[in-house]
Amino acid sequence: QQKQDMQGLKVLVTAGGTRERIDPVRYLTNDSSGKMGYALAEAAAQRGAHVTLVSGNTSLNPPPNVKVISVESALQMYDKVMELLPEQDAVIKAAAVADYRPAVSADKKIKKTKDHMTIELVRNPDILAEIGTRKTSKQVIVGFAAETNDVETNAMDKLRRKNADLIVANDVSKEGAGFGVDTNIVSFIRPDQPPRRLPQMRKRDVAEAILDEIVTIRTSKSGM
Ligand code: PMT
Repeated sequence: QQKQDMQGLKVLVTAGGTRERIDPVRYLTNDSSGKMGYALAEAAAQRGAHVTLVSGNTSLNPPPNVKVISVESALQMYDKVMELLPEQDAVIKAAAVADYRPAVSADKKIKKTKDHMTIELVRNPDILAEIGTRKTSKQVIVGFAAETNDVETNAMDKLRRKNADLIVANDVSKEGAGFGVDTNIVSFIRPDQPPRRLPQMRKRDVAEAILDEIVTIRTSKSGM
């Protein structure tokens, strides 16, 4: 029996990796398949939420009853998320956003005229951190932390720096966790609480557990 405990809630999910253009046929990106974010969007819609999925590159089909907005770069994702943020009850940032982009994106294909070539990179805005400065007291903000070492310490640091309500930490160096696979191994990091470690689970079940946590956080925020 599918829970219906998100009826009417507005939920924004980001998924997939961003592409940072070098020229019209080349870009920098990462290994995100979008599976984690798409599982979250599908599960939230089935629990009754109005879901908008801001999606970077993926080959997945759009989940049923979810509004999908496709973007390419971190800057495009930033603009879309900021536009939609004020009306959301919860935001879940499962996307793997590139931290850097090429300083210049050539408008014509770059020719191989030199033996060495340097691409200068500049920092992208941190979308989650900006959400953290703009969020209202009722909005629930969930970030992810993709780590390969000191997972919970780094995730706790991200929770504080980005003013999130929950960080879902995954050790992406573990088999069966992180990028591309159908399962994940996560810990929930919340302010003033010990980490909650979950076993290896299908991404859909991880998604349900994250949504349970959001419902709990919402209840505590409304003082019920
Ligand atoms: O897509 P899959 O193949 O299913 O893989 C799932 C996943 C590994 C991509 C997912 O579980 C995950 O960990 N997503 C976050 C990846 C990431 O970018 O982590 P990070 O530790 O670099 O960033 C921390 C948080 O800040 C993330 O919520 C990220 O969305 C956000 N961020 C990061 C950089 C940036 N410029 N803006 C951001 O909002």
